[in-house]
Amino acid sequence: MSTFIIQGGFQLKGEIAVGGAKNMATKVLAASLLSDETMHVSRVPEVEDVKRLLEILSSLGVEIKRTAPGEYDLTPKNLDIDRLDYELVGKFRASILLLAPLLVRFKKVRFPQPGGCTIGKRPIDLFIHGLRALGVSVKEGDTYNEFSAKQLVGNRVIFTKVSVTGTETLMLAAVFARGTTTLVNVAQEPEVVALAEYLNSQGARIEGAGSSIMTVIGVEKIKAGNVRVIPDRIEAGSYLALALATKSYLKITDCEPNHLLVPLEMVKKMGATIKVGNDHIEVKPSGTLSAIDIKTHEYPGFVTDMQAPFTVLMTQAKGQSLIHETVFESRLFYTDFLARMGAQVLMCDPQRVLITGPASLSGKRIESPDLRAGMAMVIAGLVAAGETTIDNIYQIERGYSNLVQKLQDIGAAIKRIE
Ligand code: UD1
Repeated sequence: MSTFIIQGGFQLKGEIAVGGAKNMATKVLAASLLSDETMHVSRVPEVEDVKRLLEILSSLGVEIKRTAPGEYDLTPKNLDIDRLDYELVGKFRASILLLAPLLVRFKKVRFPQPGGCTIGKRPIDLFIHGLRALGVSVKEGDTYNEFSAKQLVGNRVIFTKVSVTGTETLMLAAVFARGTTTLVNVAQEPEVVALAEYLNSQGARIEGAGSSIMTVIGVEKIKAGNVRVIPDRIEAGSYLALALATKSYLKITDCEPNHLLVPLEMVKKMGATIKVGNDHIEVKPSGTLSAIDIKTHEYPGFVTDMQAPFTVLMTQAKGQSLIHETVFESRLFYTDFLARMGAQVLMCDPQRVLITGPASLSGKRIESPDLRAGMAMVIAGLVAAGETTIDNIYQIERGYSNLVQKLQDIGAAIKRIE
C-alpha cells in the first residue's frame, strides 16, 4: 500500500498541464473492439483504470503496442472471448463499459453483477432496459448477468435518469443495430460527444450527440483510425480548486475551458481573479473568496466529480456554503476527514452538507475514500498547516497520472512512499 506525505500551508506557483480524459480514453479503448483494424489512440492518461482496461483487452487477445508515452496501437484481431480475464473484469468496477463492445463483437457475454462502491449503488437497470429494447436477451443471475443477441434491432429507448456510461453503452450497441435507434434523455458530456465523433469518422452514423436526444442509424461495419483523447475537464477543475484554495498563482495548461463553463462562472462569482484563454486558465491569488452554494448536475451543470475538490475550496471561502450532491447518494462522507482537519462541516443529510469558512486546516492522517474525494484530500493536505498523510492512494492513481511530479513542479511538498 502506498501513501502520500504532504507538508502543507504554502502557496504554489507555476504551470500545470492537464492530461487526457480518463472518462473518454477508457471508452475509446473499449470501442476498439468494434472493428478489427488497428486503432491509434493518443493522449491516453496512463492511470490505473486505463492500465486495468488494457490488461483486460490484452487477455482477450487484443494486440497492444505502446508507441510513445500516452500513445497506443490496438489491433483486435483473432480474439477469443473464452480467454477474457473474468477475475479482472469483476474487480474493475468500470468494466461495464466493455459490455456493449463485447456483446456486439461476440453476440453473447456474461458479465459480473455490479456491486456498489463508496459513492453509492451502481445499478445497471438502465443498461438492461435499453439493451432489451434493442432485442438483447438478458438473463439476470445472482452473480452474473448473461447478455445475448444475434442481431440487435433499432428501437426507441427512453432513459428515466441520465446516465453517462448507460448512454455510451446504448450508443455503441446501436452502431450495428438494424435500422434506427433513438435514445431519449441521454448524457451530453463532452466525452460522449468525442466518442461519437470518433465513431462517425470511422463510418458510424450517430446524430445529436451533445443534445438530449441521439439518433443512431445502424451500419454494417466501421473502420478504425486515429483518435486523440480530449483534455480531462475534471483534472483541470481540480487544479482550479487547488489554486484558489491555496491562494496560488497557477497557469493550468492543455485544457479546454469551454468544458468548464459552469465551474468557471462560479469561481468568478466567488471573487476569484482568473484569465481564461483558448487552452489555458490562469489563476491569480485573490483576497478572501466568498462562499457559494453548489448543486451537482449532469453536464453542462456542475459535475459531481468536481464536487469534492470544490468542497475543500469552500472551507477556505468566507461564509456558509450548501453542497448538495444530487447524482450519487453517498458521495459526501469524505467530509468527515475534512472535519477532522478542522473544517466546519454540518451534515444535513447524506446528500447535503453545510460548510462554514474560512477555517484553518491542520495536517492529519487520512485516507482516500474514492478517486475524486482522494484528490480533495490532496488539496486539503496542501492547504493544511503541517503534515498530512494520505493512505489508500491507489484510488487517486486510478484517475490522475503523474500527480506527484506535477505538484512538485509547482512547488508542492508532496512525496509518495511505498
Ligand atoms: C460516469 C463517470 C463518473 C461520473 C458520472 C456522473 C465514467 C467512467 N465515469 O459514471 O466519473 O461521476 O458519470 O457524471 O465515465 N444509474 C442508475 N441506473 C443505471 C445507471 C446509472 O440508476 O443503470 C444512476 C447512478 O446510480 C447515478 C446516476 O445514475 O446515481 C448517474 O450515474 P452514471 O451517469 O451512470 O455514472 P457512470 O456512467 O457510472
